[in-house]
Amino acid sequence: MSDRSAARIEPWGEGDLPLLEKLMGDPQMTEHLGGPESKEKIAERQARYERLASSGRGRMFKIVDAATGEAAGSVGYWERAWRGQQVYEIGWSVIPQFQGRGMAGTATAQAIAMASSERKHRYLHAFPSVDNPPSNAICRKLGFTLLGECGFEYPPGSFMQCNDWRLDLLAVT
Ligand SMILES: CC(C)(COP(=O)(O)OP(=O)(O)OC[C@H]1O[C@@H](n2cnc3c(N)ncnc32)[C@H](O)[C@@H]1OP(=O)(O)O)[C@@H](O)C(=O)NCCC(=O)NCCS
Repeated sequence: MSDRSAARIEPWGEGDLPLLEKLMGDPQMTEHLGGPESKEKIAERQARYERLASSGRGRMFKIVDAATGEAAGSVGYWERAWRGQQVYEIGWSVIPQFQGRGMAGTATAQAIAMASSERKHRYLHAFPSVDNPPSNAICRKLGFTLLGECGFEYPPGSFMQCNDWRLDLLAVT
């Protein structure tokens, strides 16, 4: 791809609600995430993102185009219980005008380095829909191991078939 651009990550902040509206309020962006959220749900999500770092249970970041400083997306990780263990789950999202430039992959690698440096949880999981080739490609490229498929009801009433990808954070250098 010729138009690849560098990305950096910054802690999610109070001023990032308009970005979140572009990421979570749009039908195309949320096709694999259960559909667009209402303004109210997005405001609740914004508050959760702002609180996450101080809760000590994960971190959320804004993805920024390093060349222009424009906001391009989100990446973050949070604790969850999975098959009887506490693990980190990671998720990412890039708005259409910045897609296809390697930004999600670059930003996710930076978030993985942060999660690994904490030495808090050994395993980081990602659960992209089986129908989401770019997200599955990112997992493969960043060294995750595919454990198999699993079904989720998210949000309630909406069923997704996902891949369970796992990365060993102790093996990240
Ligand atoms: C998934 C998403 C984050 C990808 O963002 P992006 O910045 O375009 O991703 P990148 O450019 O970093 O990487 C995409 C990779 O997928 C590959 N890819 C894209 N389409 C593909 C396809 N149809 N088949 C296989 N690989 C594909 C690309 O070649 C690229 O790999 P490369 O860097 O080795 O060339 C973006 O499309 C998005 O936000 N979608 C909506 C929200 C979403 O689904 N989030 C994921 C929830 S798990």
